[in-house]
Order: sequence, then C-alpha cells, then structure tokens
Amino acid sequence: MYRVNENYLKLPGSYLFSTIAKKVAAYCEEHPEAKIIRLGIGDVTLPLCPAVIKALHSAVDEMGKAETFRGYGPENGYAFLRDKMAKMDYEDRGCHIDPDEIFISDGAKSDSGNIQEIFGTDNCVAVCDPVYPVYLDTNVMAGRTGEYSREKEGFDGVVYLPCTEENGFSPAVPADDAPVKPDIIYICSPNNPTGTVLTKEQLQAWVDYANRNGAVIIYDAAYAAYITEPDVPHTIYECEGARTCAVELRSFSKNAGFTGLRLGACVVPHDLKREVTYIDPQTGEKVTRNVELHSLWTRRHGTKFNGAPYIVQRAGEAVYSEEGQRETKEQVAYYMRNAAYIRENLAAAGFTVYGGVNAPYIWLKTPGDLTSWEFFDRLLAEANVVGTPGSGFGPHGEHFFRLTAFGTYENTTAAVGRMIEWKKKAGI
Ligand code: MLT
Repeated sequence: MYRVNENYLKLPGSYLFSTIAKKVAAYCEEHPEAKIIRLGIGDVTLPLCPAVIKALHSAVDEMGKAETFRGYGPENGYAFLRDKMAKMDYEDRGCHIDPDEIFISDGAKSDSGNIQEIFGTDNCVAVCDPVYPVYLDTNVMAGRTGEYSREKEGFDGVVYLPCTEENGFSPAVPADDAPVKPDIIYICSPNNPTGTVLTKEQLQAWVDYANRNGAVIIYDAAYAAYITEPDVPHTIYECEGARTCAVELRSFSKNAGFTGLRLGACVVPHDLKREVTYIDPQTGEKVTRNVELHSLWTRRHGTKFNGAPYIVQRAGEAVYSEEGQRETKEQVAYYMRNAAYIRENLAAAGFTVYGGVNAPYIWLKTPGDLTSWEFFDRLLAEANVVGTPGSGFGPHGEHFFRLTAFGTYENTTAAVGRMIEWKKKAGI
C-alpha cells in the first residue's frame, strides 16, 4: 500500500499566490462589474523587448531546418549563454565564476525549490521572516522541518530571522555559540517581499558567519537589476570568501520579463565542498573524500532535467547583447518609475512605506492597525486594488502589505489614487 508524503500535510493552507488568486476570482464572480487593479503577484506586464523577440524568431527558424535543428541540449546549458553570464554578471563585476559553475534552468523558482535536494534532511534551515514562501515550503515538503505550530506561526526546527522596522529589515547574524545553528541559510537581496537590500558590509557579515560555522548560503539575486544605490552588491560573490559558502540563484523573469518564457541559472562554485565518509557504489568500500556540491547538482540536473529550451536560451543570450542591455534597462527603469510613484505618493498621503528604491516591491504598513488580511479584504472590496498581505510571507509580515511595481504605469497611478481616496474615506 502506498503512503503519501505526509510532510506536505504540515503546510498550512495553499501556496500564497494561489490563495490570493482564488479570493480575487471569487470577488470578481460576485462583482463582475468591478475594475480590479492587480498589484499582487510580482508578474511583469511589459512585452518582451525587440532584441529578445528577434532572437526568438531566429532560433525558431533554426529549429525548422535540418542543418540547424537542435534536439536535447547540454543539460547544464549552452556555452553561448553561460559564457555571457560568466563575463557580464561576474567578471565585469570583478568576481570570478567559471562558465562551468553556471547551471542554466527553467527559472529561479524551480532552482530555489530544488536546490535543497542536494543537502541532507538533517540540516537546520534558516529563513528570513517575512520570506518568499518557496524556500521554506520546499524544505517542509522534504521533511527538513518539524510540525507547524499555530502558536508560533512557524515550523519547529527552523531558525527564523526576523526582518523588522527596528532592524531595518536586515536580519541579525546569529551568534557563533547560539544553541541552534543554521546549516542552510536563505538570503534574498534585493528582498522579496520587503523590497529592502543588504549592504556589502551586511552581506559580508553573513558570508563570514557561514564560513566560520560551515553553513551554506542560498543567495537569491533575482532582483539584482533593480539596484540603484552604490554599496549594494549585485552578486554575493562580490563578498570575500563567498565562493566557499554560497550558491547563487539568477533569474531572467524580472530583469528581462521572462516570467512566461522561463529561464534562470544557479551558480555552484567548485569551492563548495564537504568531507564525507560513505560506501562507494563502484567498489563497495568505505571512502572518505571531499564531495563538491557542484558534482551533486550536476548529478541532479543530469537525472532530472533535460535543459532549458534552445530558443529560450537564445533569447537569454540576446539579453546580454548591446540592444538587449539597453532595452531591458529601459524596462527596469519603467518599473522603477512605478515604484517611485507608489512610494512617494503613498508616503505623502500618510502611509508608512519601505522598499521601492533598489527593488520593484513596496512594503507598507497597514493603516489603522488592520491585519494584513483585513487590509487586503477592504482594499479589494472598497478600492478594487489587489496587493499581497504581508502575513502571508511570515508572522513578522503581519500588519504589512506588499505592492508590486510591475503593473502598467496607468494602472499603478490609478491604484495609488484609489488607495489614497480609500484612506481618506475610511478615516484611518
Ligand atoms: C512574487 O510575487 O513574490 C513573485 O512573483 C513570485 C515568483 O517570482 O515566483
């Protein structure tokens, strides 16, 4: 008799964005006349830029001719893309990452969910609170946590790193002698959901902690293209010693609008290794040797993944061309204009707002001490604006609300106008 993976049953509720989508769909069914503006999920709205479209067309044509048709590609990605990333995302920033250390994937969400597979289930995981739910949920599914406690609003066995107004949304590095020490630490900067960033010095402190304590950092750099201020690292490898303690996730979704096309990359340096004693399956003998995370991820990729589509990788390559760089930067600037509009106008109307300077997310305090979900419900019903309740990202997100800057400028300005009106009418 088969048994289900009961770890899934530890998860309270459905995936955050599915819950929101269902609530909004139910509201729309009851109120078909409502003109809803969606600033909830961080999905882009601008079409793919011309350089990307041109590359897609030309790759599609190649697939239609016997001489240029491609079947299975290299599972870790085509060299034409990995070389560009190694050069432009790393070498040009003074960091050394070999193209062979870059694994092309179908997106950072898959990588951030899958990477935990190459770690033992007895590792202790640390996540920020609030956090992008994928990091935590996938570890729960894998059995790396205890039960969910309703009282604590969290899972036993997980180290939660509160990100609050008081600490400027920069979590405190645990003490080296803390009774529970995390082995796997997830960090996202620019941060989803708070829209805030870690400075180089703050990130360096995490890298130093990880190296001192034998921990690994899973660093999500999906929003790096949105950094506007100096002293904010665009990659964790700008920090000294990061090659021995950090895996980095990259995405094409937010910098180039690939949310529907799907492309990402995971960087696993060869310097990440652990001594392991195990039975060698070839010889049956007990051996002790340094095992590279790189070799485990290669094995995982080889077994479970057949590579991102050729045409999509060609589209990714086009992002690094001169036109691609110019055009995608224009798109980022468009979204950042939205971010500035939201931040400045809501602040002027008396909302307390964070983020939106180096990230396409605005993290605002719910007015009138409303809970995140109360604010969500009222804004949906009374202003027809959808955002994301902060508490959906963790208990320290309670009384906060996230707005995305990925809408159209027209919708963004209209939504902000409605929110300001709503606040006046509600008298809070
Ligand atoms: C979000 O809204 O947090 C993101 O769009 C989710 C994602 O990138 O998967």
